[in-house]
This record gives sequence, C-alpha cells and structure tokens, in this order.
Amino acid sequence: MATTLAFDVYGTLIDTHGITEILEKKVGSQASEFSHVWREKQLEYSFRRGLMQNYENFSICTRQALDYTSAYFCAPLSRQDKDELLNAYRILPAFDDVQGALAQAEKSGFNIFAFSNGSEDAVEKLLTNAGIRNYFQAIVSVDAMKSFKPNPGVYDFFLRQAETDCGNAWLVSSNSFDVIGAISSGMRAVWVQRSPDALLDPWGVEPTITVNSLSSLTEQIMRFDSTPDAP
Ligand code: 2OP
Repeated sequence: MATTLAFDVYGTLIDTHGITEILEKKVGSQASEFSHVWREKQLEYSFRRGLMQNYENFSICTRQALDYTSAYFCAPLSRQDKDELLNAYRILPAFDDVQGALAQAEKSGFNIFAFSNGSEDAVEKLLTNAGIRNYFQAIVSVDAMKSFKPNPGVYDFFLRQAETDCGNAWLVSSNSFDVIGAISSGMRAVWVQRSPDALLDPWGVEPTITVNSLSSLTEQIMRFDSTPDAP
C-alpha cells in the first residue's frame, strides 16, 4: 500500500502569523504578540468546544478568538477592522518550504491529503490561493465529524476517508497537540519544528520523526520506511 501523508494546514502549510503586517496597521508594535494570543485562543476554543460537544465551525473559533484578543489587548477594533483581518485570515500565505516539499512528495508517489480543523471550503480557498491545491488528492476536514483535533475520532475519520490504515499513514504537523493526538491514535507522525524555540509538550509521547523544515520530509520518511526494523 502506498504511503499516505496527512498534512495539517494551519501552522504547518499555512503561516497563521502571515497576518502580522496587516495587524501592525491596527495594533502597532503589539502585532506579533496579538497574533500569538489570537492563535492560542482559537485553538483553546476548538479544544473546549470539542470537550463540551458544542461544535461550531473553526471559523467561529477564529472570529470569537479575535473578539477576545481585541478586548485582551484593550485595542478595540471596529467591526470593519475585524472583517478585514478575518478576510486576510482566509488567504494566509504558505510557508516558503511548502511548494518544493509537496512537489517532492508527489514525485515520490505518496498519497497527499490536507487534514484540518478548518472547513473544506476554507481550506480549499487557502490552498488554492497559495497555489498548492493541485498537490492534494482531497481535503479531509473535521467538520464532517463535528469535533476537533485531537479527538481520536477525527484521526480514525481521516484514515477511513483516505482509505488507508495506521501503519501506512503519517500526520505531518507543526502543532504539538496534533502530533501527540495522531501518535496516540496509532498513526505515525512527523513533527515540523518550525523554530528552535518551538516545544513539544512533555507528555512522553514522541513524534516518529522530527524535521525542522518540510524540505527534508520525503527523504526522512523514505529513510524511515527503508529501515528494516521500522515499527
Ligand atoms: C489545523 O487543523 C490544527 O489548526 C490546525 O489545520
């Protein structure tokens, strides 16, 4: 069976902090910190909604997190400012290493999927805007499950949608909680440590492989798969 790659989207392929330039016009020197709090709060809302079984589309988590962050920084943004930011969030840029890594993975015969908390429409738009949609066989969104990562059910859902199994499927993610969720569900996982100060949560659950850029992804997976005693 061919190897399947499930690429996480926000933070792995698409730079969620690619909005900082627009934020600078709204909140000045607080832009970088604002962007980080917004992202953290967005994820927290998804975790809480998952636990509470109170599902709303990921874009609602993003919008409500923006409302929270605006209040937190005492930087009251107008509805127009917020709409501008949310529109920019729908067309965030891809990281520089993405295009080359996807081309390499495609050339090597991997089955390539996007697997995201984002709705199918939102991810379709992001990937198309970034010029990388054609690399993906399909977009698998948790939206169909009405839950979020790292609910184990969404990783099982991915495997069913991609018609593969744990032994042949890799999650590729920069998000520590996503990597730990996939490994805990029995998948293999590549942690993309996008900066030296990015930490993996110390839960004693290790990624199968760690890379510091997507550029070496295909080579590292192929090396792992050709190791005779690979688990
Ligand atoms: C994604 O699922 C976790 O935000 C991340 O795309």
